[in-house]
Amino acid sequence: MDTKRLAGKNILITGAAQGMGAANAVHFAAQGANICLGDLDVDLAQNVADEINASGNGKAIAVKMDVTKREDNAAAVAATVDAFGMINIGLFNAGVNKPRFFMDIDEENWDMIMTVNTKAMWLGMQETARQMIAQGPQEHVYKLINVGSIASRKPLVDVTVYCTSKYGCLALTHCGAVGLAEHNITVNGYAPGVVVTPLWEQLDKDLVEIGFKERAGQAYEDIVNNELVIKRVSYPTDVQGTAAFLASHDSDYMTGQMIHIDGGWCIQ
Ligand SMILES: NC(=O)c1ccc[n+]([C@@H]2O[C@H](COP(=O)([O-])OP(=O)(O)OC[C@H]3O[C@@H](n4cnc5c(N)ncnc54)[C@H](O)[C@@H]3O)[C@@H](O)[C@H]2O)c1
Repeated sequence: MDTKRLAGKNILITGAAQGMGAANAVHFAAQGANICLGDLDVDLAQNVADEINASGNGKAIAVKMDVTKREDNAAAVAATVDAFGMINIGLFNAGVNKPRFFMDIDEENWDMIMTVNTKAMWLGMQETARQMIAQGPQEHVYKLINVGSIASRKPLVDVTVYCTSKYGCLALTHCGAVGLAEHNITVNGYAPGVVVTPLWEQLDKDLVEIGFKERAGQAYEDIVNNELVIKRVSYPTDVQGTAAFLASHDSDYMTGQMIHIDGGWCIQ
């Protein structure tokens, strides 16, 4: 395998301070990419950038951004171009969750999740594509990569708004693919299941708080036992290969696809 298959690619990753975003940043850099790590928590993102720069693989910068703000998306794209010359790839990874049963959803829960997971993905895609279009045709294909979820395809009783937001990510992947193809931009995504990250650690606690589970750790066990084909939870390292494939020229003839990396949950 070509271990430097992202050499010379300049990639903006949102929500890159921790979890899967950080893991993908490190993995992409190891394959030669230059990374702009965007996050609300710029100190944590800077730590990941420092780790990448110390490794001698690729280069990295960290920028403070709130993905829900158009100007922050535009500024993160501009920072990527300033640092590396152009932008080739955008990975829209920032996401949040807060479980509620259907009748307990309120406007605050709806707006918070929909704004970060769906509206901000649209803003990031649009501001990144705007720069790609301005850069003009290149030999390589420009790529936008959206992070969906098992919740992009399955109605889960405890996270209606999260499902709605992630079905929206699937729609943005389909609509972006048809809307941006004329500019040599593909749009694909990947959809994890249960990945042990700070997001899921908090979700595990919240599921006890809303009374869906009785004790910490039970949600993980129930999903492994009842939902997954591959009988284990996953880790950020489990998504890195697929994410890198979608960023690489190996996926040039794909668009509008959302690949599930969920231990087989989506077929159960
Ligand atoms: N962990 C899972 O099991 C799982 C499963 C399926 C999908 N996902 C999705 O994968 C993506 C990454 O999840 P994770 O588990 O690594 O999460 P995480 O909580 O570990 O990391 C998410 C990052 O996004 C950042 N962020 C949140 N809101 C932001 C905002 N408004 N502006 C900028 N940055 C912001 C956070 O600061 C954090 O660094 C999310 O889209 C999530 O919905 C996660």
